[in-house]
Amino acid sequence: MAKAHVDVARYDEMYARSISDPDGFWGEQAQRLDWMARPTKIKDTNFDFGNVSIKWFEDGVLNVAYNCIDRHLPARAEQTAIIFEPDNPEDPAQHITYAELYDKVNRMANVLLSQGVMRGDRVVIYLPMIPEAAYAMLACARIGAIHSIVFAGFSPDALANRINDCGAKIVITADTAPRGGRRTALKSNTDAALLHCSDKVRCLVVKHTGDQTSWIDGRDVDVKALMETAAPDCPPRPMNAEDPLFILYTSGSTGKPKGVVHSSGGYLLYAALTHEVVFDYHEGDIYWCTADVGWVTGHSYIVYGPLANGATTLMFEGVPTWPDASRFWQVCEKHKVNQFYTAPTAIRALMGQGDAFVDGCDLSSLKLLGTVGEPINPEAWNWYNDKIGKGNCPIVDTWWQTETGGHLMTPLPGAHATKPGAAMKPFFGIQPVVLEPTSGVEISERPTEGVLAIKDSWPGQMRTVWGDHERFEQTYFQQYKGYYFSGDGCRADEDGDYWITGRVDDVINVSGHRMGTAEVESALVAHAKVAEAAVVGYPHAVKGQGIYCYVTLMNDVEPSEDLKKELRSWVRTEIGPIASPDLIQWAPGLPKTRSGKIMRRILRKIAENDYGALGDTSTLADPSVVDDLIENRANKG
Ligand code: WTA
Repeated sequence: MAKAHVDVARYDEMYARSISDPDGFWGEQAQRLDWMARPTKIKDTNFDFGNVSIKWFEDGVLNVAYNCIDRHLPARAEQTAIIFEPDNPEDPAQHITYAELYDKVNRMANVLLSQGVMRGDRVVIYLPMIPEAAYAMLACARIGAIHSIVFAGFSPDALANRINDCGAKIVITADTAPRGGRRTALKSNTDAALLHCSDKVRCLVVKHTGDQTSWIDGRDVDVKALMETAAPDCPPRPMNAEDPLFILYTSGSTGKPKGVVHSSGGYLLYAALTHEVVFDYHEGDIYWCTADVGWVTGHSYIVYGPLANGATTLMFEGVPTWPDASRFWQVCEKHKVNQFYTAPTAIRALMGQGDAFVDGCDLSSLKLLGTVGEPINPEAWNWYNDKIGKGNCPIVDTWWQTETGGHLMTPLPGAHATKPGAAMKPFFGIQPVVLEPTSGVEISERPTEGVLAIKDSWPGQMRTVWGDHERFEQTYFQQYKGYYFSGDGCRADEDGDYWITGRVDDVINVSGHRMGTAEVESALVAHAKVAEAAVVGYPHAVKGQGIYCYVTLMNDVEPSEDLKKELRSWVRTEIGPIASPDLIQWAPGLPKTRSGKIMRRILRKIAENDYGALGDTSTLADPSVVDDLIENRANKG
């Protein structure tokens, strides 16, 4: 096996330098990118609430698509850039070389130009996991347009909200999306969404399955047909390092989803460096991240990081359990995958199906395993380690967020020991601190527990919330002054290693999908029969957290099982299937303080079946509502 890029001595040395001399460290690292004008200014960042400003490499000029494609030519022209494994294992896989990637991306860029997309314009991408999703991202980057991918599992309403919030000129979608043997009607979802958007928004359709869809002449455009006749070259546009590369909407504890804005230079550098070092990627390796491009993991670790490194990255259209629960392992065997990166929820689901699905597969190509998205329980970690890694593959448990652009804490293979469930060590440039939650004072003793914040900026950090810089400051910099607040709780053990304990705000993590309880609540109260709703997470064996809804109905409405079904499908339509409530409890009243604030702490405890720890209920306006809620807990047991 090739020697790891970074051993422990090298980690210690590089980490120390990244903190003591960030300009020197990141200035050197910046050389892994190709610049049209090299940056002379490296770090210019300020975490002071009221004046938050984050700039990296601010006078640098580059093009992200050039860095992910052109510069690898001609040395890698015939190397596979993307392996596409389709939903149906009987359909052939595609091996897209860097030369083909160049061709497709340039053609698609020319199509976008021909549709009037200009530098700085927003393009919404609502595509399944097909190569065209990567082409579309890189085509935007090539011409300096800002993409915003909306996960294909989101509903028309959710899509419309995002198109409108970022003021997109174009939405790129596909006819239908096969997944697990079924098909999602993406084009008809897009049609429904566009009813709520400006009639100037054009719809570019990738004819992927060839299924029939409606067609509005003048608005709908057949992308593949136009790509065939488009010119195969499109000059990469020189972009400033700080120009936005993409917007990605994510959930917070309040309000509607925020458009997280990522930069061109700092983001790409951070994604590329972490991809190489954390996955210990070596020339010739086959790397597979099972995330969807609709989430940040797909952005940084399917597309931008790997392609910036000239890697071979696998894109999988399907699901882990179809045609059966051996699919992931079949794909690893078929393509001789070396690094495999997935989410704990998938590991738990597959573990639950029994070992027979793994035993028949040859997993000897695997060198490293990764997890992301939520804390991993030791049982799942051990199964992953023993059954999939055969005890030979380091597991990188990578903690990061949509906002951070790339990994912030993880063990490095070849440098650090691993502990089941621990994110272990900060990456270069990252200064984690554990704060006392109420005072915000930094706790230096070990072991300890508190909330997790970061002391100083790193190049992959988000720059702002699209159209609302104030919200950016309020969300991340107001509560604990001088720090970036992650929203996560954290334990530091006696060795100083870090363990993420989960969100400390009203964000829940359902099958690795991040969701604001407020979003589900506002979907529920939008239903005519619902007077009030409160949503919390509760422990769920496979999903990590399930969605528990307390619903108060309008006075004249009778509760029924049918109404529960109706509300579930209502939420699916309002947000998407990922937000479907797991448990609904009819609540004649919600526990409120005398000032009318819902006491979620109590609702969480009831949902968790933890009545002993309800705490002080004497401040409630009507303490008796709690007894009723306990009495009628959904699926009590
Ligand atoms: C959680 C996903 C424990 C955490 C990249 C974070 C994790 C949220 C881990 C961000 C991990 C992510 N261990 N928890 N390794 N990775 N999380 O924005 O609560 O979808 O704040 O980004 O996922 O979710 P997001």
